[in-house]
Amino acid sequence: MIEIPGWRIDWFAELDSTMLEAKRDPEPGRIIVADRQTAGMGRHGRAWLSPAGEGLYVSYVLKVPIAPVISLAVGLAAREAIGNPADLRWPNDVLLNGSKCAGVLVQSDADVVIAGIGINVSQRWFPGDLDTPATSLALEGINVSREDLLSKLTAALDRTVALPAEEVLRQFAEHSSFVNGRRVRVGEVEGVTCGLDSSGFLLVREDNGTVTTILNGGVRPI
Ligand code: BTN
Repeated sequence: MIEIPGWRIDWFAELDSTMLEAKRDPEPGRIIVADRQTAGMGRHGRAWLSPAGEGLYVSYVLKVPIAPVISLAVGLAAREAIGNPADLRWPNDVLLNGSKCAGVLVQSDADVVIAGIGINVSQRWFPGDLDTPATSLALEGINVSREDLLSKLTAALDRTVALPAEEVLRQFAEHSSFVNGRRVRVGEVEGVTCGLDSSGFLLVREDNGTVTTILNGGVRPI
């Protein structure tokens, strides 16, 4: 069993969701991992497919201030754990060759933040009806064990959640091809991305010149 100083790791064979388990015992410093989730949760109420042993399904209970930038910091950590050439799609999807290999769900509970991260590690197949094209590390030629990935992810998260907000924004922009100059659609809004505001929200310049602040939603390239 893997140990990481400063954290308590609870690794389950099966859970409904690591997010729900974190809420059942939200002790700061707890890491919850499941080999398989029967009710894996994605953003916007979507499900997160969690086949046994094929992904890293993990939630961290963090004692950090609740702010929008935290969600970017967690995405930054997931990208760092996966390594180059992974790309970040605002707010926190990690892409390899344009397809999603990891997703982040951040929720607050009482006075803690629960950061859930799902990384597709060894899947060789995905359903065709997903909201966005998906891939796994194995399909992209990255072979890593879930244990090693958890160690890298935790070290990266220790680093990114301690960064000042401006530095999170700078590093996010540095590692994301979506933050500047990318033509995208987000819900009804269509235009070219033009940076992040000081809270970490995405700015999109529409063709009529209006700059819209994107608070939420799925960013899709067009
Ligand atoms: C997304 O929609 O991109 C977010 C996906 C987050 C999935 C992870 S897997 C571990 C944790 N437990 C869950 O039920 N969801 C998150």
